[in-house]
Amino acid sequence: MSTLAVYPGSFDPLTNGHVDIIERGARLFDRIIVAILVNAEKSPLFTMAERVEIARKVFTDHPNVEVDTFEGLLVDYVAKRRANVIVRGLRAVSDFEYEFQMALMNRRLNSKIETVFMMPAEQYSYISSRLIKEVFALGGRVHGLVPELVEARLREKQSVRM
Ligand code: PNS
Repeated sequence: MSTLAVYPGSFDPLTNGHVDIIERGARLFDRIIVAILVNAEKSPLFTMAERVEIARKVFTDHPNVEVDTFEGLLVDYVAKRRANVIVRGLRAVSDFEYEFQMALMNRRLNSKIETVFMMPAEQYSYISSRLIKEVFALGGRVHGLVPELVEARLREKQSVRM
């Protein structure tokens, strides 16, 4: 049986922590779908089209990584794609409560789908999309924390605003 995993999230923007988890998932499962939630935030920094384009470009050399979008319930999307695993990253204990609630709710909604937690490399354990946006907006350096393409796109957005 081949295992198809779904790695869902907002990815606004994709960070090196996400990249690390996707690469681990791509080694562990036959195929992994990076599933970007439509309308997760009311005013995202990156449009859905930008987030899809960035993720596709970053994983262009990974034939078993697919990038897709979804709306509605995650478990419905996972079932529609005939996947059997949801992958989530766990950075610190602080992630645990929310992730635990989501995993058990998703299991209640569809008991055939398993959630698998993966830990990113330590150097990414404190990174979040929210912090990246905040630090960059305030002039801080995010080099090495996001893919170079994301860094370039952040700079473009900043120059449009200036
Ligand atoms: O990157 P994020 O914002 O932590 O991802 C959260 C996400 C997309 C995994 C979660 O909000 C989600 O699954 N949303 C889809 C709606 C849904 O199924 N909600 C019930 C979850 S128990």
